[in-house]
Amino acid sequence: MRKNRKQKKVFFVTGAMGFIGTHWCKKLLDEGHIVYGLDIKKNTIKNKNFKFFKNTVFNFKLLESLIKKSNIVCHFAGIAEPRLYLTNTSEVINLTVKPSFKIVELCVKYKKKILFTSTSEIYGKSTKIPFKENGDRLLGSTNYSRWCYSTSKSLVEHLIIANGEDKKLDYIIFRLFNVYGPGLKGRVVDNFIIKALNQKPLLINGSGNQTRCFLYIDDCIEAFYKIFKKNIKKEVFNIGQSKEHTIKDLAKIIIKITGTKSKIVLKSNQLYKFKGFQDIDRRVPDHQKIKKKINWKPIYSLEYGLRNMIADLTK
Ligand SMILES: NC(=O)c1ccc[n+]([C@@H]2O[C@H](COP(=O)([O-])OP(=O)(O)OC[C@H]3O[C@@H](n4cnc5c(N)ncnc54)[C@H](O)[C@@H]3O)[C@@H](O)[C@H]2O)c1
Repeated sequence: MRKNRKQKKVFFVTGAMGFIGTHWCKKLLDEGHIVYGLDIKKNTIKNKNFKFFKNTVFNFKLLESLIKKSNIVCHFAGIAEPRLYLTNTSEVINLTVKPSFKIVELCVKYKKKILFTSTSEIYGKSTKIPFKENGDRLLGSTNYSRWCYSTSKSLVEHLIIANGEDKKLDYIIFRLFNVYGPGLKGRVVDNFIIKALNQKPLLINGSGNQTRCFLYIDDCIEAFYKIFKKNIKKEVFNIGQSKEHTIKDLAKIIIKITGTKSKIVLKSNQLYKFKGFQDIDRRVPDHQKIKKKINWKPIYSLEYGLRNMIADLTK
């Protein structure tokens, strides 16, 4: 009988010091893999199997040398803060598109698999809920800069899928739906928690009845790893929780858990004051494909995840 030895791989992770990048690198290292991490931020991971490069994804020479030496390229670097889609539109487009094009080209050249983090924003304002991976996309006008992120990510998706068809690129595209947990920065969940811990009002854009499906980071990382282990090829997956919460509910739960005296302030003009803003009412992932392929479904409740995040922020 053949020995069931663990297969060690070399992973190259861009955006390795980001919220998802850090959790992913730690999981890979825990599983005994070798990881090359690249980020413009300072390294926070100490491990003999982790080699860190404080640099930018615009350094194409460095990208080439690291892609050459790796088995799997995880391209996670990006800008995921909604406010920046409105204030730093060209930067969001440049960062999402230019290095991704180079990385795809290099993955084709050196025959490496690419794992790319795309977004639930791909579906835009579509009302065909839940969103199926092959479902339609419905975006607003280019006058609204908020769609720059969705459009840039979808362009990279197109390029990856096209190279999978004509150049045999091996890939997985993850469409992430509001992943949260310790280490998250610049999104609604950490914003509300920090406000609550500081007894400041929780400002909600619009009515607060817009919903999101919040996925705890451990569920997300479990899905990534199961997909990697099964060696699934050339697929796009929704990675999300199907349970919806209104933004108002999220605020109420955070107020309850933290015991804060903070109040909810509705219809704040935080994002609406930018002319490029339009909101998305609902974003719900369809789970059928991922359930069928890897038998994954999220197990952590929102309250459990929020308690962990609050504990991390107050330790
Ligand atoms: N968290 C989510 O819910 C979510 C949802 C949809 C998509 N995504 C995608 O997942 C990926 C990771 O998101 P995240 O939530 O961890 O965001 P994050 O902002 O925490 O991580 C992104 C990382 O990219 C790094 N980066 C930015 N510019 C860089 C550059 N020029 N060179 C090298 N590194 C650079 C940042 O320093 C940061 O560490 C992104 O591509 C994002 O678009 C995340």
